[in-house]
Amino acid sequence: MDFSKKIINWYKNNHRKLPWRENKNPYYILVSEFMLQQTKVSQAIKYYSNFIKKFPNLEKLAQAEEKEVLKEWEGLGYYKRAINLHSFAKKLREKPIGFFPKKYQELIKYKGIGPYTGAAIASICFDEVVPAIDGNFYRVFSRYLGIYNNIISVFTKKILRTFILKMMDKKNPGIFNQAIMDLGATLCTPKRVKCLLCPIKIYCFSFKNGTVYELPVKNIIKKSIRNRFFYYVFICNNSKKFCINKRLNKDIWKGLYEFPLIESEKNLPLFEIRDKIWKKYKIFSDNIIYKVKNKINNQILSIQFLNCKIMKPIQIKKNLNKFFFISHEKICEYPFPSPITLFFKNEKMI
Ligand code: ADE
Repeated sequence: MDFSKKIINWYKNNHRKLPWRENKNPYYILVSEFMLQQTKVSQAIKYYSNFIKKFPNLEKLAQAEEKEVLKEWEGLGYYKRAINLHSFAKKLREKPIGFFPKKYQELIKYKGIGPYTGAAIASICFDEVVPAIDGNFYRVFSRYLGIYNNIISVFTKKILRTFILKMMDKKNPGIFNQAIMDLGATLCTPKRVKCLLCPIKIYCFSFKNGTVYELPVKNIIKKSIRNRFFYYVFICNNSKKFCINKRLNKDIWKGLYEFPLIESEKNLPLFEIRDKIWKKYKIFSDNIIYKVKNKINNQILSIQFLNCKIMKPIQIKKNLNKFFFISHEKICEYPFPSPITLFFKNEKMI
């Protein structure tokens, strides 16, 4: 029996039962693949069903406001994905009713659909023979074929892609892709491999040579760590409403909401933070009431929240004109970065 038949048979009996695998509805697959970009299956599962409940189809997603979509994504990170997914739904509204791009080459023209996501959708939903190559694929195939070249290099990726295309099941490309994903996630894992359960072990170069942990070879150039210090001013007015604004810059958390912010590349003493807040917003801040650390890719964020009571609304108009006030009950309508959500949970005063 050849490689792809063994893989497909194994999948039939051993695949992970995942909520987006219940049928081949392209919208469901689209949402799941966007969620699974940079996110583990266990984490995506927690969000997937709620997202589908809230936006059951492309039309409903297209009709939603951006902040509603981001609210469903709150805590999942990489918020650009949600914005791109929303933009995809809105773009399709310009097409005839029911249209969904079916070909890999069409799919990758949309923002947020890269080669992996495009291949996953095209193969799973529309049976296009195109490999959805991610880290799992590289691990499985470099071990199986005994490829010692740096897996990060474009050249190695090209070679591997050619091999994989040849080995792919031409009748069930979607199942083949998902089978490799599952094999890589459950047996051919980075650590503690379960080779004895593997359906293709007898042909596997690394298994035969006892060199499973030597592969894949990854010469990663590590990005240097960037430390950022955020000082949020929690401004609460007399009616217990607090001041927020939408993040618009090309930076982390774009599209989410936050309090007035002072940012620094180094840790600042309290008097300096207060001074900066005064200069920027013309308001007096009080104590630090909450601290939290957050790591996002190569960035370490040290975040502190300062308390600030504002009496005169006029002060706000001048220096915080892009900001607006919301009540505590409205928190559920706005998407916030995780540290701010944590602050709300821990802040007993509000
Ligand atoms: N990772 C990315 N896409 C996936 C999928 N469709 N199933 C399981 N894991 C995945």
